[in-house]
Amino acid sequence: MISKQQIDEIKYRNDIEDVISQYVTLKRAGSNTNGLCPFHSEKTPSFTVYKSSQSFYCFGCGAGGDVITFIMKAENLDYRDALEFLAKRAGITLLENERDKEEGVRRTRVLEMNREAAKFFHENLKNNPDALKYAASRGLDGATVKHFGIGYAPESFGALTDHMHKLGYTDEELKTAFLAGISQKTGRAYDYFRKRLMFPIINTSGEVIAFGGRITDNTKPKYINTSDTPAFKKSKNLFALNFARSYCAQEMILCEGYMDVVALHAAGFQNAVATLGTALTSEQARLLKKYTKRVIISYDSDEAGQAAADRAFTLLGEAGLETRILRMEGAKDPDEYIKKFGKEAFRKLIEGGVTRFDYKFDVIIKENDIATTEGRIKAASLAALEISKTPSNVEREIYINKAADKLKISADSLKRDVNKIISSRSRKNQKEQTQKIILDTQGYADRVNPDRIKNLKANSAEEMILGIMLRFHEYITGVNSGKFNLSADDFVSEFSKRVFVAITEGAEDFDIGMLNEKFTEAEMARIVKMQIAREGLTVSDKIFADSIDTLKDAGKKETLSIADIINKKRNQFNNKS
Ligand code: UTP
Ligand code: MN
Repeated sequence: MISKQQIDEIKYRNDIEDVISQYVTLKRAGSNTNGLCPFHSEKTPSFTVYKSSQSFYCFGCGAGGDVITFIMKAENLDYRDALEFLAKRAGITLLENERDKEEGVRRTRVLEMNREAAKFFHENLKNNPDALKYAASRGLDGATVKHFGIGYAPESFGALTDHMHKLGYTDEELKTAFLAGISQKTGRAYDYFRKRLMFPIINTSGEVIAFGGRITDNTKPKYINTSDTPAFKKSKNLFALNFARSYCAQEMILCEGYMDVVALHAAGFQNAVATLGTALTSEQARLLKKYTKRVIISYDSDEAGQAAADRAFTLLGEAGLETRILRMEGAKDPDEYIKKFGKEAFRKLIEGGVTRFDYKFDVIIKENDIATTEGRIKAASLAALEISKTPSNVEREIYINKAADKLKISADSLKRDVNKIISSRSRKNQKEQTQKIILDTQGYADRVNPDRIKNLKANSAEEMILGIMLRFHEYITGVNSGKFNLSADDFVSEFSKRVFVAITEGAEDFDIGMLNEKFTEAEMARIVKMQIAREGLTVSDKIFADSIDTLKDAGKKETLSIADIINKKRNQFNNKS
C-alpha cells in the first residue's frame, strides 16, 4: 500500500474537476459539474462530478469513484499504475513502501525470466531443423522470425527449466511466471511449453510479458497462452501492440490469431493486433481507443468468428471507436487470405470494410431471393429491423435509401417501418425500464450487495451510517474512539461490513482513494453513491447515533429468505401492473 500522506498529496494536486475535464467537457450545475459519461454512450449528460467530495458518479451506467478510480477506468490502469499516472501528472515522485517493493521485485523477476526464456526459445528455433521447417511451412521467413522474436520450445519436460535453474531461478519462480508447472507426484518443475512455436508478447515498454505457444503438430491444445502473472494481465494487453502503435494513426486491424497478425505485419499491415487467446474485453477496446479512431475487425470467416466479430463490434462501439467489419471470402482467416490472394487483395478488402448494417444487409440479400415478392418482403422487414438498431439519424437515412433502392421499394414506406420498430421498441424499453427500476430499488439483481434485499431497513441504515462516515471523517474518529457504539458485527450485509472494516482499520488516516485497491469498480461506484447521497446533508451526532440505533433494531429482526422476498415482491408487482 502507498501511504495515506502520498495519496493525500496526489489527490490534492489532482483536482478531480481538472483531471476529468481533460476527458469530458464539463458544464457547471450548481456546486457540481456534469457532462457526457465517458464510460457508456449517451446523449444527455448523467455523469456528475462532485467537487466538494472529490468524486464522480454516473446515474446512467452507475460508474463512480474518486479521481483514482476515474483514471483506473479511463486509462485502463490498475490501482498502482493509476497512482503513478496521477503522481507523474502532478510532478510527484512516489516513494515505495516494503510491500510495493516486494511486488515490484516479483514483477521485475518475472520480466527477467521471460526475457531469458524468449532468448532461449529463439536460439532453439535457429538450431532446430524440424522447427524451422514448420516455421517455413507457415510462411514465416527469417526476417519475420527475427522481428517478432519468434522461438521454439523443445519437446522436452526439462529443457527450459534446466536452463533457468542454471541462471539461478527457482521452481517456485518459474511457476509464478507460468513457464513451468510443478508435478504433484515428484514435486519437480516441468516445462509448460513443449514442442511449440513461441510468440513472445511484448508490451509498449518493450518488456516480454507473456507467450503464446503453437504446437507444431496436430495434437491439442493448439495454443497455450501465459495465464495472468505479476507482470501480465491478458484482458488488458494485445499481441503486437508494441509495433502497431506506431502505425495506427487512422485505423487498426483487429484479428483473432497470432498467425494472422504475423502474416499481416509481414505483408506490410503493421497496424494489426490480436487478443491473447480470449474474446475481446472492454479493457482491450479502451486500450485500442487510446491509439486509434477506427478498428477493422478481421476475424475468421467461420460462424464462430463472425459471432465473435458481432460482440467485438458492440464493445468497440461502446468504447467510442468507429468500427468496420471485413468481408472475407475464399479463406478462413487473414493469414490464409494473404497467402492465397496476396496483399493487394487484402488492401482492397480493407478499403471495402463495411459497417455493421452493410454487412448484415449483404447476408439478408444472400439469404432471401429478392427476385420474388415474398423474398423482397422478408428482406425489407429484416432490413428495417437492422436499420432500426442504428442510433444515428443520418446513417439511418443512408441505409434506408440504399436498402429501398436495392429492394426496389419506396424509401418512404421503409422509413415508416423503421420508425414503427423504433417507437415500439422505445415503449417496450420504457416498460422494462420501469420494471427494472422497481426491481432494482427492491434490491433484485444487486450483485454488489446481494444481502441488501434481505433486510432493507437495516441496509438503508447501514448506507446512511457509511455515507456519513465517508463524507465526514470525524465520524470515523468518533467510531474508533468509542464515542459511538458501533462495531463490524452490527452490520447485517457482508458488503457493508467490508466497507466498514476498510474505513475504520486505517484509524484517522482515511481517504476513499485507498479503497480502490480493495474493492472492484462496481463496489467503488456503490461506495461513492453512499457518499454522495449525503451531499448537502446536515449531519449531527444525533442523526448518526439514531441511524446506529435503527440498524441495531432492524438487525435483530429475522431476515427473510431470498425466495420469500422474491415471491412477495413478485406478487406486489403483478398486482400493480
Ligand atoms: P485459431 O484456431 O483461428 O488459430 O485460433 P490461428 O491463430 O489461425 O492459428 P493457425 O493458423 O491454426 O496456426 C485463433 C486464436 O485463438 C487462440 C489463439 O490466440 C489463436 O491465435 N487459441 C486458439 C487459443 O488460445 N487456444 C487454442 O487452443 C486455440
Ligand atoms: Mn490460421
